[in-house]
Amino acid sequence: MSPHDVELWLDRLYVAAEGAGLRDEDRRKAREVAAMLDEVARAAARWSRRSRLLLVDAAAGKSYVGLLAAKLVFEPAGMDAAVVTLEREPARVEASRRAVERLGTSIPIACRQAEVSEGSAWPDRPAIVTALHACGAAADEIGDRAVAAAAREILLVPCCTSRAVEAARRAEARAAASGIPRHAPVRRRFIQAMVDAERTWRLEAAGYETEVVEFVGATVTPHNLLWRARRVREPGRMAAARAALATLGSGAEPV
Ligand SMILES: C[S@@+](CC[C@H](N)C(=O)[O-])C[C@H]1O[C@@H](n2cnc3c(N)ncnc32)[C@H](O)[C@@H]1O
Repeated sequence: MSPHDVELWLDRLYVAAEGAGLRDEDRRKAREVAAMLDEVARAAARWSRRSRLLLVDAAAGKSYVGLLAAKLVFEPAGMDAAVVTLEREPARVEASRRAVERLGTSIPIACRQAEVSEGSAWPDRPAIVTALHACGAAADEIGDRAVAAAAREILLVPCCTSRAVEAARRAEARAAASGIPRHAPVRRRFIQAMVDAERTWRLEAAGYETEVVEFVGATVTPHNLLWRARRVREPGRMAAARAALATLGSGAEPV
């Protein structure tokens, strides 16, 4: 997907509509969204056409990924698809709904105001769950909910790691016990590595084959790791991940 095309759509749907022009941060966001749309297109190509493809854009903000997946991926491919976006902030949900009106697509899109942890907000068996820059604990809540909904593919880009992230609190205790020095940059790296390891093994333990890749360069965003997870339910892989979680001393129950 060309970042330039995404810029044009972001401008048309959100920026120009508010009487403004694209800023540098909008152009960086366009590159992130373009990279996510490439991921969505690859996941969509793996979906069987026998049933409707449902995409959930969680912690959606103004739903850039969900809306543009509909317009630039599903509609041109003539796919039978639908999109649900989940966002807690009412103003962003409203902005998403206004953008849907401007988008003009035949793909049904529902923008729901909800906490991502609310099971009732999630549809069953989505083909694809995306979360671009899900902040703090939201990344793990989305992982858990996507697993519980039996999502076929999860495309998860976590954002900042705060103390609200359970794995970070466990890693802090582990850092002290493992003799990691108190110097903040060293501790931060250790904690982030532990959080990332736990996220990976929890998805694997829940039956997902995972890859972790830099989906854009670190100059676009420092939060540039994407978890690609595909539901395979291989018992051996799941058992190995449970064992790895135990070795990690995470204390986290597999999802
Ligand atoms: C950093 S923004 C990213 C938005 C969008 N995905 C993007 O990349 O432009 C994170 C969004 O997640 C929403 N969010 C955070 N925690 C949430 C939760 N528990 N439930 C629903 N939305 C949440 C925030 O309100 C915010 O709009």
